[in-house]
Amino acid sequence: MAKNTALHKAMKAKQDEFYTDLNDISNELFHYRDYFRGKTILCNCDDPFESNFFQYFALWFNVYGLKKLIATSYVQSPVAQLELPLFEEAKPEKERTPYCAIMTEFKDFNGDGAEDLADVEWALKNNGIVHKLKGDGDFRSPECIEFLKEADIVVTNPPFSLFREYVAQLIEYDKKFIIIGNKNAVTYKEIFPLIMQNKMWFGVGFNGGNAYFKVPTDDPSRYANGVYNPEEERVKFRNVTWYTNLQHHRRNEKMTLWRRYYDDPSMYPKYDNYDAIEVSKTSDIPCDYYEAMGVPITFLDKYNPEQFHILGLDRYIPDNPKPGRRFTINGKEIYARILIRRKK
Ligand SMILES: C[S@@+](CC[C@H](N)C(=O)[O-])C[C@H]1O[C@@H](n2cnc3c(N)ncnc32)[C@H](O)[C@@H]1O
Repeated sequence: MAKNTALHKAMKAKQDEFYTDLNDISNELFHYRDYFRGKTILCNCDDPFESNFFQYFALWFNVYGLKKLIATSYVQSPVAQLELPLFEEAKPEKERTPYCAIMTEFKDFNGDGAEDLADVEWALKNNGIVHKLKGDGDFRSPECIEFLKEADIVVTNPPFSLFREYVAQLIEYDKKFIIIGNKNAVTYKEIFPLIMQNKMWFGVGFNGGNAYFKVPTDDPSRYANGVYNPEEERVKFRNVTWYTNLQHHRRNEKMTLWRRYYDDPSMYPKYDNYDAIEVSKTSDIPCDYYEAMGVPITFLDKYNPEQFHILGLDRYIPDNPKPGRRFTINGKEIYARILIRRKK
């Protein structure tokens, strides 16, 4: 039993080890650049030697005019202290220490005439910005919560398995955030109300919907065909996205609707268990229909609260007289649907 628990824990920990690509970070964060001036940024699931989030904000420290950058690492991270050559050899797991890096300035630390990644490395090694944590670096630990209180904006890719707890803590401490999560997290009963109440929404999104993550040495059989690229030691996921509560330009864009419901209502069958029509592709939302419609979760990539009301999710609709986990058509279950209505 104890063995199984340990194995389960290890498997769970492994599922959380996906390291975000610097290009993806840069593509998304650029859209929020006006928010960063004079702010304290916290990356609280981020080994500073490993995390591209820390490296990104360190490199852009002066351009964005940051006040402070804090990153904390977690004791169980299997790649902590392996990426940059701070240590001669990787330390065994038991000897790894969780720590934080706190940066209040960035410059040409190594005096080579350029401000670049070599200066981030130099600062981590020589500048006294790295400190041991007392605890294990869990984002819920008291010392990490003190960092959270101090932060203005939290930016990271948190462990997928703790997404609910992670978001709940951000909301509890009323923080601004830009984080990565699985799109299906929208269907969690703790997450959907936040989307519905416009307390959290999708970010601008990964280029072409493809998100790249470096994984520690890996077993390709864990992934569907084409997901893991052994040469690059990274995976490509299409089901993850950015979640934020900072406004961005995409959220103000109205979707162009060109289909007409009344030209061919048979294209939009009604559900058996709710009075709404099925719209199986977001791009097929009709321009002449103002009643309830069920749309896929990817609708949130295009959602503008000026254009649509979100009424609920198939499984949490307060006034549904025939509640079920899913909508059905002719007895057949339809994949997760968000219920929306056009604003006039
Ligand atoms: C999906 S990885 C992302 C790492 C890094 N943020 C990035 O994007 O490259 C999640 C990280 O959270 C760490 N982690 C797992 N559980 C944690 C916890 N309870 N508190 C803080 N960090 C945790 C993992 O070790 C892992 O490094």
